Amino acid sequence: MKNWKRYTITSALPYANGPIHIGHLAGVYIPADIYVRYLRKRGKDVIFIGGSDEHGVPITIKARQEGVSPKDIVDRYHNIIKKSFEDFGISFDIYSRTTNKTHFETASEFFKKLYDKGEFVEKTTEQYFDTEANQFLADRYITGTCPHCSNEKAYGDQCEKCGTSLNATDLINPKSTISGSKPIKKETSHWFLPLDKYESFLRKWILEDHKEWKTNVSGQCKSWLDMGLQPRAVSRDLDWGVPVPVEGATGKVLYVWFDAPIGYISATKELTKDWEKYWKDEDSRLIHFIGKDNIVFHCIVFPTMLKAEGSFILPENVPANEFLNLEGDKISTSRNWAVWLHEYLEEFPDKQDVLRYTLCANMPETKDNDFTWKDFQLRNNSELVAILGNFVNRAMVLTSKYFEGKVPAKGNVTDVEKELDKAIIALKADIENSLENFKFREALKALMDVARLGNKYLADAEPWKIYKTDPDRVSTILYYSLQIAGALTSLCEPFLPFTSQKLCKMLTVSTQNWEDVGNIHPLSEGHLLGESFLLFDKIEDDAIQSQVDKLLATKKANDEKSLPVVEAKPEVSYDDFTKMDIRVGTVLEAERVPKTQKLLKLKVDTGLDVRTLISGIAEFYSPESMIGKQVCILANLQPRNIKGVESKGMILMAEGTDGTLKLISPTEVSLNGATIK
Ligand code: MF3
Ligand code: ZN
Repeated sequence: MKNWKRYTITSALPYANGPIHIGHLAGVYIPADIYVRYLRKRGKDVIFIGGSDEHGVPITIKARQEGVSPKDIVDRYHNIIKKSFEDFGISFDIYSRTTNKTHFETASEFFKKLYDKGEFVEKTTEQYFDTEANQFLADRYITGTCPHCSNEKAYGDQCEKCGTSLNATDLINPKSTISGSKPIKKETSHWFLPLDKYESFLRKWILEDHKEWKTNVSGQCKSWLDMGLQPRAVSRDLDWGVPVPVEGATGKVLYVWFDAPIGYISATKELTKDWEKYWKDEDSRLIHFIGKDNIVFHCIVFPTMLKAEGSFILPENVPANEFLNLEGDKISTSRNWAVWLHEYLEEFPDKQDVLRYTLCANMPETKDNDFTWKDFQLRNNSELVAILGNFVNRAMVLTSKYFEGKVPAKGNVTDVEKELDKAIIALKADIENSLENFKFREALKALMDVARLGNKYLADAEPWKIYKTDPDRVSTILYYSLQIAGALTSLCEPFLPFTSQKLCKMLTVSTQNWEDVGNIHPLSEGHLLGESFLLFDKIEDDAIQSQVDKLLATKKANDEKSLPVVEAKPEVSYDDFTKMDIRVGTVLEAERVPKTQKLLKLKVDTGLDVRTLISGIAEFYSPESMIGKQVCILANLQPRNIKGVESKGMILMAEGTDGTLKLISPTEVSLNGATIK
């Protein structure tokens, strides 16, 4: 294996148009952070790059909706997102943004270099243009009917109902979302990156030279390559973005997916004047952490850009994850189906590591995976509390009880202890191997096995039983238990950095170099420990239930929103209206109609008579609740025979679009027979 001199680690730049949620963390930032922390612990030269992706049409649309400028939107969310990352210990060396000056310069220069080298193809195409707003319409600014499924709200680039990707010109009845008018087609010219020219290079580079890439990544690449690559436009007619730096390109900006990955380079420039060695030296290992929707851009488009530019290295690996779902459903910002990081911390303050742990344990490494609150509780209670927390606590409490909180003497070491040292070294090697192969779940399991090892050691040795008879043996047992706890401070640091700090405080030590873990005991005889406290607390059912309830409420609200609107009916004359005899009556008797779910038989005093009616309200009103109620009746409706009963007239109801029924009653008690007009 190659001996890399340094590591350039990037994580996808999130769009600054909304806060971030657990899906972002699990897919990209937790694995990236674990990997980087691990490399640092090994003493490697590593930079960890992050930042906001602040261009693109969705940001301009959101700004328009809110009546503010795109800059207002990105300023707001850049700060919110940056804070969430800090709160969860995502240890970027820099968290930059693509609206800053360095980035504009870097992206312009990059484009200019490819332009000057003649790498682009310039093409004129017809695009939709809004004559009222006097601007070209990006795909997302056009809606229309999907030619595949007839969804009337399909976007110019995709139908969200059937999932088909579209060209704006495929839409039936296209409409501008800016002015609502019907757009016209107008010619415009753009620059295209000829991916087709690089196809055979890409095929060899990905499928032959990088067989070690995750199969979900190479699989997606292969299917793109097999479909055949097309030139891709790298500019847009838009006023939000990095202006295209060539003459005659007014009103055009770089396509967001052209400028955003260059953001990694711009951020490195801001971080260090030595930036070039991280991007241009063959001994630097470039790794992109991303989610699966970014694969084509990081494995095909950006590498082509880098290759075409000529002076940059290419990514060595792109360990993309699949998606995390929430309680069985796809996470969705528009449906508010998400656990937002800032909200999580309000409800579970100081429990960053519990979330980091759960998300790592459920990381969607090879396929989509699910986050559930029940699992979150279980992971906390039966793993973090019962295994890791419990082990440390027992070691601490016993040491304070028998040895006044000082690390006791090592004493006579038996085979059991020799095996312990070996086991720690072996587990450490497992963690290393797993991390080197981006298998984070496996690595986390090996970490917990260290705590399991400690628990088992204590449970088998039972020092509390032998203290009276063999205090020397107890001294050895606790000495070793504390060394395991000491090793855990370092081993858990990449995964659970907050816990590592707490544990260091408790043991009054610092973490070790990775190389020393398991080889050098971190705690020496006589070392005074700090005060012991619980690393993790049990999470009770009601805390979980309230999270589940919150999601149920969201689901209910979404279901209601998605109900159809009942269309207006054609006009009627006043005469038509007065033909109807609508009046107030009082329900005297009510009973279910046998063998039906929906029907009640009612006896109603209408002021004219007492009559029998059948009404389909049994799902919403019990017979008892109806008695004595005032209702409105259409009294001159032709009688009908329903289930063998003659029903005279109809009780009026408000019908929700979901089919729920509510009685219409006078708000104050009225005379029976009072007419309604
Ligand atoms: N903003 C994109 C997303 O959230 C990711 C951009 S990654 C970069 O999907 F390469 F462009 F930086
Ligand atoms: Zn469709």
